[in-house]
Amino acid sequence: MIRTIKDFDLKGKRVIIRCDLNVPINGGIITDDNRIIESLPTIKYAVKEGAKVILLSHLGRLTTNADKQKYTLRPIAERLSKLLDMKVTFIDQTRGEKVDHKIREMEPGEIVLLENTRFEDLDKNKESDNDYVLGKYWASLGEVFINDAFGTAHREHASNVGISEHLPSGVGFLMEKEIKYLNKANTRPKKPYAVILGGSKVSDKIEVINNLARKADYILIGGCMAFTFLKAAGFEVGKSSVESDKVKYCRDILDKYPDKIILPIDIVASKEIDEKAEAKVKFINEFAEDEIGLDIGPATVKLFKQYLDTCKTIVWNGPVGYFEINKFSEGTRKLLEVITNVKATTIIGGGDTASAAINMGFKDKITHISTGGGASLEMLEGRELPALKVLNDQK
Ligand code: 3PG
Repeated sequence: MIRTIKDFDLKGKRVIIRCDLNVPINGGIITDDNRIIESLPTIKYAVKEGAKVILLSHLGRLTTNADKQKYTLRPIAERLSKLLDMKVTFIDQTRGEKVDHKIREMEPGEIVLLENTRFEDLDKNKESDNDYVLGKYWASLGEVFINDAFGTAHREHASNVGISEHLPSGVGFLMEKEIKYLNKANTRPKKPYAVILGGSKVSDKIEVINNLARKADYILIGGCMAFTFLKAAGFEVGKSSVESDKVKYCRDILDKYPDKIILPIDIVASKEIDEKAEAKVKFINEFAEDEIGLDIGPATVKLFKQYLDTCKTIVWNGPVGYFEINKFSEGTRKLLEVITNVKATTIIGGGDTASAAINMGFKDKITHISTGGGASLEMLEGRELPALKVLNDQK
């Protein structure tokens, strides 16, 4: 059993909380703070319990020193401080005397945030390759380690797996919630169980399809990846993106699970990926050579609804259309309406689908919106995530 933050006495202790504060930032402005918001309950609890709270997170991927300015956690410290309505001391270092000194003089209830753990990647990839010395050093800063970074749980970093190897460790409230919903969907979903899969590539989802085809009752396919399936089913799909090396895989899976894999029957087609371009709803046998499929059509929504209405568990990963452009967002919006009106446990994973659900106003109507992109996908593939394995091993 993995321990949770509630299993530890935090009073007066130095508690390291690994969060995933890897949020999109454009020109220094945070454009989506959902991951920060979802990290708050664990931080607040630790503060309330009188811990000295040391926060760690990565942000982006650094390759040169010049990336440091773009990927500093300073704006995140400011946003955190605002959301918590309390001071968050930002330390612009990942280790060394400045860090050690500040932590030595912390008072219970105080919060510090260290600089981006991936700054360490500029020195032989130490964070991302789980450098033993680095993990041990970070562990030496605390007395308890709480891993709440679900979005990073599929990575074996020094700041998650590394620290867990040296300190009594458990999960925070966010990680606990993510495990609860995604694990349950994977191991004992209430049936009927439907999975909606979208997004750009079949190749990203092969393991998910293989795993879920055994467990789910229906797999409803939309998004760009639907066109490789449609091609495999014998349709011409104009200029829609098709992964030609995956057509055979799709054909095999369609043959193996003919009643389970449900494909779109109509699509919104256009000659350009542009809000101003003309768009037409077409049945999938009506594609013109120069058209691109950019959303599922109303007949497909109706078809998918017939399946979804019967379900007790629905998992959705990957938008079913090019939802960033309003004209091609209707399929995603309509399906969100459908699933939020079904009496089912509804789980959304993947950054794009999560932001579509939140931006379209469905956040409070979905049972669980995962903060993990790659991590939620790997859980749906049925893999054991390294950051959880090390906690399980601790017993
Ligand atoms: C994510 O956004 O999926 C996580 O924060 C992990 O980031 P990464 O893909 O850069 O490792």
